[in-house]
Amino acid sequence: MRTLTGITPTGTVHIGNYFGAMRPAIEAQAGGDCFYFIADYHSMTSLTDPAQRRANTLGVALDWLACGLDPARSVIWRQSDVAGVTELMWLIGTLTPMGLLERAHSYKDKIAKGISPNFGLFSYPVLMAADILLYDTQRVPVGRDQKQHVEMTRDIAIKFNQTYGETFVVPESEIRDEVSVVPGLDGQKMSKSYGNTIEIFGEEKAMRKKIMGIVMDSRTPQEPKPDADKNLAIQLLKLVAPAAVAADYEQRLRAGGLGYGDLKKGLFEHYWNYFAAARVRRAELAADPGHVNRVLAEGAERARAVADKVLQRARKASGLA
Ligand code: ADP
Ligand code: TRP
Repeated sequence: MRTLTGITPTGTVHIGNYFGAMRPAIEAQAGGDCFYFIADYHSMTSLTDPAQRRANTLGVALDWLACGLDPARSVIWRQSDVAGVTELMWLIGTLTPMGLLERAHSYKDKIAKGISPNFGLFSYPVLMAADILLYDTQRVPVGRDQKQHVEMTRDIAIKFNQTYGETFVVPESEIRDEVSVVPGLDGQKMSKSYGNTIEIFGEEKAMRKKIMGIVMDSRTPQEPKPDADKNLAIQLLKLVAPAAVAADYEQRLRAGGLGYGDLKKGLFEHYWNYFAAARVRRAELAADPGHVNRVLAEGAERARAVADKVLQRARKASGLA
């Protein structure tokens, strides 16, 4: 089973990325044949600072490796190192109906947030489809927000296969219900573009401040809270604390007597411990950028070997070669 996913280096990786995409991807390594890339082409729809892009790309590579991505078992590369993906984007773009792109939630959401649209942002699902189809991907672990993009990829693959003959593998998304949407500090979906993130590798003091700053309602600590399961800190605690610990906090909040300050303190401690080992590994990796660059270069070579074959297949099928 070939698994593939990508992370866009537009900012610092957060726990929504981790639970929604990175952890399932890391766990999938047990089954082998994993392809993971840093979507630096995608970052161009919203980031125009070259130094920032370079730094973020290296940062995401460090994040992946620190969290357990193992280059001996997985292929990890920078999207732009396999430039053929942009050619495939053209091949499939000519079969992508405008209406399909106009229906993209993520595009509509971004416009609604005041992000000024460009052609790249509009055509982004086509590049994402190319990312997936170029590697004969079967399974794509992503957060709920990307489900529609994987469905578009399926539509595009099916249309290409119908038009030009069997060429692409039709992929499936893998979405875990319990982490499909990790909420951010404001309760909305956690996203780099919404400024509501809890970073995986934030600095201790700043992260404590962020978590302690989560706004709660004005009920007194003593008051029972029948809606404890909806509490944002409880929801986040369920991700980073053992199930029994999170259940205990929830029960105490429900019964009354647990103050929001203590709850947030508990959340911070569990969050901080959850990523402690990865934090140490990241510092070691960051001290040796040569190693990380070698990993990315080797990954690009392995990715290219697959991509070249699939691209040739698509060129041939469509009468280009
Ligand atoms: P962001 O929305 O912060 O820009 P990306 O678009 O780079 O994040 O997402 C990278 C991966 O992380 C995708 O698979 C996406 O579905 C997943 N992801 C992002 N935010 C969340 C979230 N809040 N909950 C679950 N998964 C998420
Ligand atoms: N669009 C994805 C996101 O913003 C990142 C991404 C790009 C991706 N190409 C992909 C994810 C291919 C899975 C497969 O989250």
